Amino acid sequence: MIEQFKKDVDAGLSAHPKHLSSKYFYDDIGSQIFQEIMAMPEYYLTDSEFEILSLQAKQIAQKLNFKSPFNIIELGAGDGYKTIRLLKNFIELGLEFTYIPVDISKKAIDLLLEKGAKEIPNLKVKPFVGDYFKLLSSIPNELPSLVLFLGSNIGNFKQEAAQSFLKSIQSHLKPIDKLLIGFDLQKNPITIKSAYDDPHGITRAFNMNLLHRINNELGADFRLDKFDFYCHYNPVNGEVRSYLVSLKKQDVYIKSLDKTYSFDYNELIWTELSKKYSFTEIEDLSKASNFKLVANFLDCKHYFADSLWIV
Ligand code: TRP
Repeated sequence: MIEQFKKDVDAGLSAHPKHLSSKYFYDDIGSQIFQEIMAMPEYYLTDSEFEILSLQAKQIAQKLNFKSPFNIIELGAGDGYKTIRLLKNFIELGLEFTYIPVDISKKAIDLLLEKGAKEIPNLKVKPFVGDYFKLLSSIPNELPSLVLFLGSNIGNFKQEAAQSFLKSIQSHLKPIDKLLIGFDLQKNPITIKSAYDDPHGITRAFNMNLLHRINNELGADFRLDKFDFYCHYNPVNGEVRSYLVSLKKQDVYIKSLDKTYSFDYNELIWTELSKKYSFTEIEDLSKASNFKLVANFLDCKHYFADSLWIV
């Protein structure tokens, strides 16, 4: 774990332009800050998808058209806040299924199980801690599966990576299986900008925590007051890009790598891509990854889409 972290930090800070992988946002502190992001009124994503899964479970089930019993496999289950709504609704509709949450974090899975057991006592759960594709290759073949990839996680992939990730999911599925995938939609740019460039400084803290983490875990001497956060939404291509900015020309030493990294005045470290999709782009992505789009489920403001794809 720490070896990979070291390798990625070294590669990212030696590259031109510099970057740090957003997967390292989510240590314990980072996960806590992300909960705060999701609770901000400006961060509409969580509420929008929550609304879809709460109010349209019946329509989703109809389009799914699975005979019970079936599997619901959730990739990157996280805290399950939104998914539990969908599962609850499915149970009320009389559907019979086993919920298989998959996450690389054991802690996330444990929390989710605790919550799931409280909210849905009779839920059948088979949790899996580890790699998505390992789980997908080990699923027994008899039952149909609905794969969930929610929360606009796909928006954090570059186009090529999104295609190859989805293609390889597709290659693990049976003809009867389906995928429900979340997309944050292109909308008024001001709405998107406020969700990422929030006035409370929470997203700033979320990004700065990356440097804090490198200081703590790799023995670096990043001076947090000499870096700032910047993010930008480009409505032409639908991309939010987040950065850390070096506020002066400076050197940073990382002890566990025994290496010094130089930052220019105003040099950027790119931390995250959050791509916002148009309907055409969603359809194109489904085709490019060998799926076929069956239906888009939208919230009332049309901010977010959960898109149902068949293999
Ligand atoms: N990756 C998530 C998203 O795109 C979480 C997130 C919210 C985020 N704000 C951020 C990641 C700012 C990096 C920077 O919505």
